[in-house]
Amino acid sequence: MTHEELAAQLTDAGQSQVLAFWDELSAAQQSSLLAQLEAVDFELINQLVQGEDAAPDWAALAAKAEPPRAIRLDSTGNEFSPDEAIARGEQALRDGQLGLILVAGGQGTRLGFDHPKGMFPLGPVSKRTLFQILIERLRAVANRYGVSIPMYLMTSPATHDETIAFLDQHDRFGLKEDELQIFCQGVMPAIDARTGKLLLAERDSLALSPDGHGGTLAALVKEGCMADAQKRNIEHLFYCHIDNPLAQICDPKLIGYHLLANSDMTSQAVKKRAADEKVGNVVTIGGVTQIIEYIDLPPQYGQQKQGDGSLKLWAGNIGVHTFRRSFLEQAASQKDSLPFHRALKAVLHVDFAGTEVTPASENAIKFERFIFDLLPLAQNAIVVEVNAGDAFAPVKNADGDPTDTPATAKAAMLARDAKLLCDAGATITDGVGVEVSPLWALDSLEAATKCPRAKITEATYFG
Ligand code: UTP
Repeated sequence: MTHEELAAQLTDAGQSQVLAFWDELSAAQQSSLLAQLEAVDFELINQLVQGEDAAPDWAALAAKAEPPRAIRLDSTGNEFSPDEAIARGEQALRDGQLGLILVAGGQGTRLGFDHPKGMFPLGPVSKRTLFQILIERLRAVANRYGVSIPMYLMTSPATHDETIAFLDQHDRFGLKEDELQIFCQGVMPAIDARTGKLLLAERDSLALSPDGHGGTLAALVKEGCMADAQKRNIEHLFYCHIDNPLAQICDPKLIGYHLLANSDMTSQAVKKRAADEKVGNVVTIGGVTQIIEYIDLPPQYGQQKQGDGSLKLWAGNIGVHTFRRSFLEQAASQKDSLPFHRALKAVLHVDFAGTEVTPASENAIKFERFIFDLLPLAQNAIVVEVNAGDAFAPVKNADGDPTDTPATAKAAMLARDAKLLCDAGATITDGVGVEVSPLWALDSLEAATKCPRAKITEATYFG
């Protein structure tokens, strides 16, 4: 596209302000700005600015929300038994039907760590990074079932190059070269919240940010991962986030329930500890499974109780799902299968006088897609309840915050691993930290074969 064509398109879209510094830019700067602008879908931006994607009436939906179809830990109403599920899931793993999608494209702003979150040294004794922790779990599962499980790792422009360099430097933490495919998600421009105009981060670049974990869907196809999975006869993809060190990667039980239910999308969930807990609520409305974010759930509905005093809308989303591959392919082929959510954020930018602006309050709207919005499209969707202590310890906030910090995640890892060792017959002196690599033992039965009745008196990493 020439500059003239671009200028005409921007004028039509009412966005010509982004060329304010064009004449001052070098040829290289001009071509990089041109490339950014060519990637923008102005029709979509216009629709979003005009609010044609207006948010649903959450209060009306919440009034009709019921608990989702689920496999509960207390077995009430369960359609399948854990033994059946494990057997079915193990068979699928042995047959090489599984792949992993790990998403690590977020900017990690709340954590305030200067590198991709996967590089955070979280291991409470070992100091293993989140990348190592999760990759070791994947390798341990693959070893157990005697297969190779490919990992599709999503980054964003904010994390891509550093992630590649880091994983190269560490030989992919033991994954073979053909077991890891790193792919980059798309971006969306931020717009000025008052005017709807695109913002410039610099004179020669737009203010862009990753398009949300829902960006996984389009990026998987665009970057060839779905084609690769198909070539390998992978029928189902386990999905989780880089910031959950307890993620039960490729858990046979979850996979088994997914298969027994003939489900397109199966989600792990935890029982919410409080009505206003900051997790998405998995619910069913008129037979359709979907998520109502905590900010969208009016308190009177969140607080509803069942006969036994427990929360009616109990299911907290933890961002762990299993997808049928063909379902992802079909959803990706429809341009609008995932809606955009908008978030009001403070975005640094240069104004059109060329001055750098650090806003004191939220000044811009960012647009993101969320992967869980695939739930309403899924046939036979089902939720599987897990204990948070076994499966969910997100690293979101910096230490000092009361919840979801490196400190709370480390404590959760220590508690889980101490239980694994005690169940294997070990005794641990009070206050002594123990950490277990899944490559050493994936569960207590395996640990029992390695350290029967060990007495652990000092901080130990079993790796
Ligand atoms: P969060 O939504 O919690 O965001 O991501 P974040 O980037 O980790 O942290 P904040 O909000 O900036 O503090 C949940 C998971 O989704 C991934 C993240 O990497 C994390 O694994 N994610 C999020 C993406 O891969 N891309 C995105 O655009 C957003």
